[in-house]
Amino acid sequence: MLKIGEFHEPNRKLVGRTVWHYDHVESTNETAKELLEEDLEEGLVLWADRQSAGRGRQGRAWASPPGGLYFSVILRPKETHAWILGLLVGIPVVKALRHFGVFAGLKYPNDAVYQDRKIAGILSEGVYRRDTYHVIVGIGVNTNVDLDRLPPDVQATATTLKREVNLFVANDEFLDYLLNQIDDLYSRYRNTRIEFLIKDYRGQCTTIGKRVTATTSKGSITGRAYDIALNGALIIMDDANAKHEFVEGSLKIVP
Ligand code: BTN
Repeated sequence: MLKIGEFHEPNRKLVGRTVWHYDHVESTNETAKELLEEDLEEGLVLWADRQSAGRGRQGRAWASPPGGLYFSVILRPKETHAWILGLLVGIPVVKALRHFGVFAGLKYPNDAVYQDRKIAGILSEGVYRRDTYHVIVGIGVNTNVDLDRLPPDVQATATTLKREVNLFVANDEFLDYLLNQIDDLYSRYRNTRIEFLIKDYRGQCTTIGKRVTATTSKGSITGRAYDIALNGALIIMDDANAKHEFVEGSLKIVP
């Protein structure tokens, strides 16, 4: 683990005022957790050029070859809202992808998807350190990665910025834009009613209206993704018109 740079952007409100750049770490989320012992400033970003043990949601791995963008943001929200923050951070991720030419949408809860292929993922974790609740929002974007550098089992369902856009976009440029968007989102999160953000999220969520099968520890249901509840749950209407709330588990779009 080698720190190769440090950047400051004092014009930002909170997120990304300081960025620490590493050449290589196991996982930026894990690095964040290790560093939490020190009194780190809220909004600090840890960015790595590659990860040897990148992690995804639900215990999956996140392939992190060079060329991709991998970073974590350390936040200290008042309420213990790691999960909802992870949901809402999908909004700036999609905005950044669109800004750079990929008209992505959000597959519930927070996969950025373009033409049914995943291009970015978010892993948000809540951690306590000496009574202080921290949220680590880890984001991985397949920016300058060739599809064949990703594991064979994900190639069929993944895509990359490089593959979709002809123009070269440097990672620092993408990160800069994305951090501005996350900074805005987080200040709205702190200052406005969550309903407004949920509406915003709903507008970007391309799962709504689709037929889905949701599998949780309690079993699986199939129906139409109908709405996002105020708690961030996906409301699924089954074939008998009964509504179900889905939060954690696996979600498949079905024909
Ligand atoms: C997912 O879609 O399953 C979430 C993927 C999250 C990947 C990012 S890359 C930076 C941060 N460090 C990790 O180990 N994971 C997240």
